[in-house]
Amino acid sequence: MRLAHCSDLHLLSLDGTRWLDFANKRWIGGVNLLTNRGRHYHTEAFEDMVADFAVAGVDHVVCTGDVTNLAFEQEFRYAKERFDRIGLGATNVTVLPGNHDSYVKEGQAHFADVFADYTTPDPGWAWADGEPWPVVRVRGPLALIGLTTSRKTPWFTAYGVVGDEQLARLDQVLGDPRLAGLTRVVAIHHPPAGKRARSKIRGLRDHEAFAAVIARHGAELVLHGHEHRDLREELPVPGGAVAVLGVPSGTYLAGDADRTARYRVIELDRGRVISHHLRVWHRDRKCFDVDAAEPALTRATA
Ligand SMILES: [Fe+2]
Ligand SMILES: [Fe+2]
Repeated sequence: MRLAHCSDLHLLSLDGTRWLDFANKRWIGGVNLLTNRGRHYHTEAFEDMVADFAVAGVDHVVCTGDVTNLAFEQEFRYAKERFDRIGLGATNVTVLPGNHDSYVKEGQAHFADVFADYTTPDPGWAWADGEPWPVVRVRGPLALIGLTTSRKTPWFTAYGVVGDEQLARLDQVLGDPRLAGLTRVVAIHHPPAGKRARSKIRGLRDHEAFAAVIARHGAELVLHGHEHRDLREELPVPGGAVAVLGVPSGTYLAGDADRTARYRVIELDRGRVISHHLRVWHRDRKCFDVDAAEPALTRATA
């Protein structure tokens, strides 16, 4: 089974956006976006990625948040139209929100509304109070557990919080006997391990509590976004450690070659990750291809 992990698409459509909408917190992001970000994040990269999912033989896609820039409703609709082009259907594509998707408070409601089909839990895994998170989706050997860390934060900050309620549910899910023998992949926007998790400004405020849950029950893989970089950390689990992999933005193209748009393909079987490798965007050829700079060790063999 092949799982694709992409993140931080920051898909941009400002059609119909009025400057007045940039009042309050959006103003900072709006100016920043129009002067800088917009030039560096390319919807065409995601369109090429969607085509590449079929080339790479992907069975399920998980996107770990920041599908938008400013959390406008029209941005979510624009992004969802692109996700709808993935041939796997919404039941095989899971999308989490990031901090940009809560740039203003109503962003959370827009995400929940527009991306509902992409966050629907499996029957038997819905929470009694109607809360969507954590979302659990079991597909063959894969047990995907998606969290939200997305919340409106004060100006000039971009941190995330899992929260006690969601952590208690994650604890319950990871220990659930229905997942025994499956490959438990925990997906989250903010980095939950390493020095970036500890940042008060951009990190995950309750990363220690998250790590404690992982340490108690174990997991076979943890995936995150947010930092727009290829990050590799570990967290302790019973009897060893679990890989914590951060993937760069799926649409970025600017000066840093090692941050050019890419996504990760993870090959897994029941109870284990077999291999993983990155596929990088080649704008000139309008396609994605294996990252020649990545050590062959982590490349898929097929
Ligand atoms: Fe981002
Ligand atoms: Fe982010």
